[in-house]
Amino acid sequence: MELKHWKLNVDGDHLAWLYFDRAGATTNTFSKDVLRELGQIADHLRSMPPKGLAILSAKDNGFAAGADIDEFTTLKDADEAVAFVALGNEVFDKVAALPFPTVCLIHGFCMGGGTELALACTYRVMDDGAKTRMALPEVMLGIVPGWGAATRLPKLIGAAAALDLMLTGRGVDARRAKKLGLVDAVTQRRHFENAARMILAKPPPRQSPGLLAAATDWPGVRNLVAKMSARKVAERARRDHYPAPYAIIDLWKDFGGDPRKVPREHPASTASLFFHPTTRNLIRIFKLQDRLKAFGKEGAPPIRHLHVIGAGAMGGDIAAWSALRGVTVTLQDLAPERISPAIKRANELYKKRLKQPHLVQAAMDRLMPDVKGDGVARADLIIEAIVENAEVKRKLFAGLEPRMKPEAILASNTSSIPLQELSTVLKRPERLVGLHFFNPVPQMMLVEIVEGPQTSQAVMQAGMAFARQIDKLPLPCKSAPGFLVNRVLSPYLLEAMLMLDEGIPAETIDAAAKDFGMPMGPIELSDMVGLDIGWAVGQELAKPGTPIPKKLQANIEAKNFGKKTGQGFYKWVRGKPVKMNTGTGTVDLKALADRMLAPALNEAVACLREKIVTDADLVDAGMIFGTGFAPSRGGPIETIRARGKQEWLRIMAQLKAQHGLRFEPDSGWDSI
Ligand code: NAI
Repeated sequence: MELKHWKLNVDGDHLAWLYFDRAGATTNTFSKDVLRELGQIADHLRSMPPKGLAILSAKDNGFAAGADIDEFTTLKDADEAVAFVALGNEVFDKVAALPFPTVCLIHGFCMGGGTELALACTYRVMDDGAKTRMALPEVMLGIVPGWGAATRLPKLIGAAAALDLMLTGRGVDARRAKKLGLVDAVTQRRHFENAARMILAKPPPRQSPGLLAAATDWPGVRNLVAKMSARKVAERARRDHYPAPYAIIDLWKDFGGDPRKVPREHPASTASLFFHPTTRNLIRIFKLQDRLKAFGKEGAPPIRHLHVIGAGAMGGDIAAWSALRGVTVTLQDLAPERISPAIKRANELYKKRLKQPHLVQAAMDRLMPDVKGDGVARADLIIEAIVENAEVKRKLFAGLEPRMKPEAILASNTSSIPLQELSTVLKRPERLVGLHFFNPVPQMMLVEIVEGPQTSQAVMQAGMAFARQIDKLPLPCKSAPGFLVNRVLSPYLLEAMLMLDEGIPAETIDAAAKDFGMPMGPIELSDMVGLDIGWAVGQELAKPGTPIPKKLQANIEAKNFGKKTGQGFYKWVRGKPVKMNTGTGTVDLKALADRMLAPALNEAVACLREKIVTDADLVDAGMIFGTGFAPSRGGPIETIRARGKQEWLRIMAQLKAQHGLRFEPDSGWDSI
């Protein structure tokens, strides 16, 4: 048998060792070819059975990343999609039916199809390395785990835990996987062979869930579990925007987890899901994420020592996040009492993310308060996150430059000040770059890497590599007021506030945005970010003649800044806005959403024309990863394309007649 993607050895003990080693790729993924070959191997082993089979990866980075997304996006029609899903099922069913024990040895990432193959084996052993994770992230692409996981996982760990993994797409490390019963043993990768030999020589009883967990999969209980799961999903995602999580629940409850049994016209069928616009958009976003990651790939030496100046909301969290990701950080502010809240927040973040006390301690040790600024002389990178005032920042820079290492990079986290206004005091302006993080830093993946007219390419590259080093997504942007994200977001927030002044309830405005697909409404978002911040950014970005929202001004005067002061447009109690259940009744939510969106789409078009980022895909990626702009809609430019340029221009003409010049289309619409 000639094999391209798999290597098969049978040793003297009659144990078969099957290595997954996809040809011509650094990462294992499942294409049709890969699956067919695995099917042939299973047939061959069935005809000449060994005593046992171990399946493992020959790649260092992991077991498998799931289906081959590139191949998968070339599937032309429903028939092809159905056939691809059926092929995976047939092959994994063959593995599951082998008449001898099988064990899957998992290191690194084990995603989607990788996890489904592991589930088709009798046993699973997982490496306990920091990067090893098992997950079923299909839901994030708008599809379902369709190669047997929805059948096998509930039987292995109970339906409640299985649904949790399938509905969130969350990855689990070895400790958690063992606790769940997802794997039989945890060991280091170098002990894999021994572990497999022991299991295959004397197969232990198969893993099964405890009574309570098993009960969640009993026919009589299923409806209840399904209802509870659907209710939880509904808190995060609406069925019309995100059909996949609902499809997962239906697939498990009504079809035994087998997509081959789902009628074509059912919303949970492969045919319905593959060609849903949300799926297309989510797959595109997944690819865009890879594109952003690639910006940070090119060689720049890693940052070993980061010095952050300004331990406020942003600087404190940038410092904490960087230390979490392994960087040594010194954190400076005007006085120790200004640094201590940031250290306290860091400790909470580490406890939540790292859990194990020795890891928490190690991260805390990497984060050092430094009132005197001793770190400046040692740092490879200095990030400034002090008050948003050009004069104060320039003064700081002038004092800093002579104390920095000559090869060190200076960065500003400014939200709105063009770099060229800050670099006038520098002898080496080419070493200044903008690293614009988003609030809250631990949750927001994007960092705008801002190129001033004098920033050198090497420094841009280093900025992008640093973003990757700390697991963020870099987006290269030109230095113009607001860069990309704030510039597009501001007119949307402004329009929402003007609607508020007209007497439209905040709850209705937020409902309209959520109805479009935004994860949070603009009024709630403004309160969350801080009305003082919004005010400052608005002042910087407002075009001449733009009206000032009256309710915003009143809040600023009363120092009601939103969530952080407990009062903004909403009253905030225990971190949540108190919303009146006014009901939206007969209000045309779509018209309200159009009115808020139109100025933002117009600004996105202007950014494209001015080449703030290089192309339309990057506008969409920036808005999705920087603000959470309705992922199911695929970003602002995709929103224009989906409904059509002419339709949006018609809407804008109407809005201009009603509300004035802020709805004047940008000249960039001609080339959209
Ligand atoms: P903040 O007011 O929470 O913190 C600023 C900190 O800088 C304060 O602790 C202050 O004591 C300290 N500081 C002021 N002058 C200093 C100096 N000369 N030396 C050392 N420390 C000094 O402000 P925030 O919100 O953290 O913003 C900081 C920067 O980040 C600003 O440039 C802002 O535009 C930008 N930014 C803010 C975002 C936000 O949502 N808050 C988002 C992205 C960027």
